[in-house]
Amino acid sequence: MQDTLNAMVAKASAELALIGARPGFEAAKARYVGPNGELTAVMKQMGSVPKEQRPAAGRLINEAKAALQQLLDAALGRIEAAELQAQLGPAIDPTLPSPDAGPGTFHPLTLVREEMCHILRKVGFTVADGPEVETEFYCFDALCTPADHPARDAQDTFYLPESARFANVSKKTPGEKYLLRTHTSSVQIRTMLKGAPPIRIVSPGRVYRRDTTDATHSANFHQLECLYVDKGVTVRDLKALLDYIFESLLGKDTKTRFRPHYFGYTEPSFEVDLSARHLPKVNKEWIEIGGCGMVDPAVFSAVGYDPEVWSGYAFGMGLERLAMLLYGVDDIRYFYQNDLRFLKQFA
Ligand code: DAH
Repeated sequence: MQDTLNAMVAKASAELALIGARPGFEAAKARYVGPNGELTAVMKQMGSVPKEQRPAAGRLINEAKAALQQLLDAALGRIEAAELQAQLGPAIDPTLPSPDAGPGTFHPLTLVREEMCHILRKVGFTVADGPEVETEFYCFDALCTPADHPARDAQDTFYLPESARFANVSKKTPGEKYLLRTHTSSVQIRTMLKGAPPIRIVSPGRVYRRDTTDATHSANFHQLECLYVDKGVTVRDLKALLDYIFESLLGKDTKTRFRPHYFGYTEPSFEVDLSARHLPKVNKEWIEIGGCGMVDPAVFSAVGYDPEVWSGYAFGMGLERLAMLLYGVDDIRYFYQNDLRFLKQFA
């Protein structure tokens, strides 16, 4: 019996060492310790062993059983470790930098906004902020755009329901309606009402219009507004500042020109065109970039500044349009789609 058991353990040891997966293991286990297994068969012979030899035989069987169990445990441990390893994949060093994340990037609109603010800070402008929810007074009335003006047409503008309340957006008069601001020019009024001149502010931000989206229009987009109030400010100062900022942003070869226009809050008013043929994808001589003018005396009166003493200029322009020019982007929708293939190009 001893020889049989020794041979069985040796055979099991050799067999189990070669088994690498569960099905083989289960089959081997059944072959030795299962109901029809080899060890079970030896145990069944105990009945025919003479009584005085039974204790010794029992001990031998128990030893063989323990040895088999040890071999089975070791094999199962190996198989389980291999299964876990297969789930984990190849070994990694978690302290290495990730191969695929790459450094983060700023959104192109953020880059242009920050660059413009940087350029304007150099010549004394401070960044001012205003709410995106506005009231009719700040968005229109104080900017000399009366109720019958086309810019106030409900078709063009997102008005909020009468029941809407915004604790952080002050109204001038209780009956005023809230709306999503159509331009950043409202920040001019909020800034002037807050303090005394001289004033030099730049205010970038999001604006909203009921526009149908296409390659050059979006219902919400970004503007950058500037207001300068001091004594003796002239159109020449305005033109000089615009030349300076566009040359700084787009390069020395950039030119600006004014075309007479109408805005309710400036007199005279102009539209500003840029010539920047050196930029990629620019195939027109002049591109409209924004509006500007000398602050209308009526606006100064509306905020309590003496128009006989103070003068100033203001302008507003679209940030998307600038970014499209600067980076040669030909569809405004790219800015809002969060497509990493687009965004990663601005690293
Ligand atoms: N608010 C105008 C717009 O959205 C742009 C503009 C024109 C801003 C003239 C100004 C300005 O400050 O003086 O089209």
